[in-house]
Amino acid sequence: MRIDILTLFPEMFESPLKHSILQRAQDQGIVSIAMANIRDFTTDKYHKVDDRPYGGGAGMVLMPVPLFDCFEHVEKLAPTRGRVIMLTPQGEPFRQAKAQDLAREDRLILIAGRYEGFDERIRLGLNAEQISIGDYVLNGGELAAMVLIDAVVRLLPGALGDEMSAQDESFAEGLLEYPHYTRPEVFRDMRVPKILLSGDHAKIAAWRRQQSLERTRMWRPDLLPPAHE
Ligand code: ADE
Repeated sequence: MRIDILTLFPEMFESPLKHSILQRAQDQGIVSIAMANIRDFTTDKYHKVDDRPYGGGAGMVLMPVPLFDCFEHVEKLAPTRGRVIMLTPQGEPFRQAKAQDLAREDRLILIAGRYEGFDERIRLGLNAEQISIGDYVLNGGELAAMVLIDAVVRLLPGALGDEMSAQDESFAEGLLEYPHYTRPEVFRDMRVPKILLSGDHAKIAAWRRQQSLERTRMWRPDLLPPAHE
């Protein structure tokens, strides 16, 4: 997969992309991630990327011209356009199913905004999808883009050492994950459940499934399909 990010703050991405799974996935050629600085596509002396809103009001709005020039440059860097996604609190809520859907693409172009928002013609002209990572307002789309990248890249084949681990975890089946235990067997009077020491794999699987259901019912009943409620 190739991921291009259009941003005013490319340096914000450096550290998250340089560690652990994301770094390894890039080293192994599973994903390549490239940044484009929208400010590099300004033509005026002050490298202006934002301006006051028509009609008045607080804050500044990201101008369409440098963004489009940046996008058209980036678009040509690979043969396919892939999915074009703007990170914005107005977007579709980002969930595991969306991460799985995006993980099937061979290219993503992510657009991280700043200021009060994007000029509306950016969304209209690029025919971009909009994604929100939650119902709160961040200072910009960069952290949201990183969250999306982290969730998608770990689903790419080979990104996690152990192929099973992405299938087994929370939300993979729409449920929360079962509890995990490792050594020691007793810690501060808390014992590892006996069944996990039994070696009976069928019973362990049934217990884990039951735990997943109970935890989901208790902590996230909104995730359960009607039949389980
Ligand atoms: N930009 C600002 N807030 C955001 C959010 N919650 N999700 C995605 N992009 C954003």
